[in-house]
Amino acid sequence: MKIAVFPGDGIGPEVTREAVRVLEALDLPGLTLFEGDVGGAAYARHGHPLPPETLAMAREADAVLFGAVGDPACDGLERHLRPEQAILGLRGELGLFANLRPATCQPGLENMSALRPQIARSIDLLIVRELNGDVYFGDKALETLPDGRRRGWDMMSYAEDEVRRIAHVAFRAAQGRKGRLCSIDKANVLETSQLWRDVVSEVAGEYPNVALDHMYVDNAAMQLVRDPGRFDVVVTGNLFGDILSDQASMCVGSIGLLASASLGERATGYGTFGLYEPIHGSAPDIAGEGRANPMATILSAAMMLRHSFGREAEAARVEAAVARALADGVRGADLGGKADTVSIGDAVIERL
Ligand code: IPM
Ligand code: MG
Repeated sequence: MKIAVFPGDGIGPEVTREAVRVLEALDLPGLTLFEGDVGGAAYARHGHPLPPETLAMAREADAVLFGAVGDPACDGLERHLRPEQAILGLRGELGLFANLRPATCQPGLENMSALRPQIARSIDLLIVRELNGDVYFGDKALETLPDGRRRGWDMMSYAEDEVRRIAHVAFRAAQGRKGRLCSIDKANVLETSQLWRDVVSEVAGEYPNVALDHMYVDNAAMQLVRDPGRFDVVVTGNLFGDILSDQASMCVGSIGLLASASLGERATGYGTFGLYEPIHGSAPDIAGEGRANPMATILSAAMMLRHSFGREAEAARVEAAVARALADGVRGADLGGKADTVSIGDAVIERL
């Protein structure tokens, strides 16, 4: 089990350190960890946010544990040198097209939600976000028109095979949950979305036991705060998935709790190669203070055990340890508490 650890920027190194300690505490035979540079940290050392040696390391591994990238000091750089290109490059180069972002309201945390507790309590959903296409990976340009006006544009597109493969991931996920799938698009305005809707409907024929409905993204944003309990599995494109997953995180209480898995098609021998990262960013405002909540990264490591290593029992143990720590009142600053990063890591390890 070879894991490439890419801590990255800001709080990335602090939170990945705790997730690594949790993995090591499980004492799994054959676990090998190696570390690489990504993001602004990699730019500073190698002149590129995703140096070739880092990419090679990822290809060599069975799974990647990723911290966070993003550094305001890099805002002035050309786009291809900015820290965010590290994560986009890894997703693209490694064919990680399926992004799983579960959002569940942990019992006892209803009061941390931006929603009323009785509404927050009902949240148990999985966002399946397409990660290799859409306006993220289309042609784009900043240009000056002949009349001197500046123009920026980004090409949004999906090909049917790209929609079909993410639809299958989502339908299969729904089969393993409550059997409901909501596909989110903007088919009333965008052709890209019309194709998305048509293809998802076609794939539905292969999953008669899953109840599919379609929703426009503006309505979905509203329903996510009005009645989030109505969602089981959500499938959507790259851009809408980015926005809705941040929104979902605040509905459950804290962005410091949400994990993610990005999966492709490559098998590892124990499962599927994947990249695992918290959905939060590098939080430069609190970087280096040891106050970040590592739970999202620890829960991402649990997803890694499940999806890349076929270690369901250990994944469930880690998730139970985090849930127990929360139930025992272990709270980081993001949850209005005082526990620091290392003591949250300790609390989870004690409960393993
Ligand atoms: C995410 C992040 C990334 C994205 C950024 C850092 C490029 O917001 O993983 O949600 O937009 O996908
Ligand atoms: Mg995002």
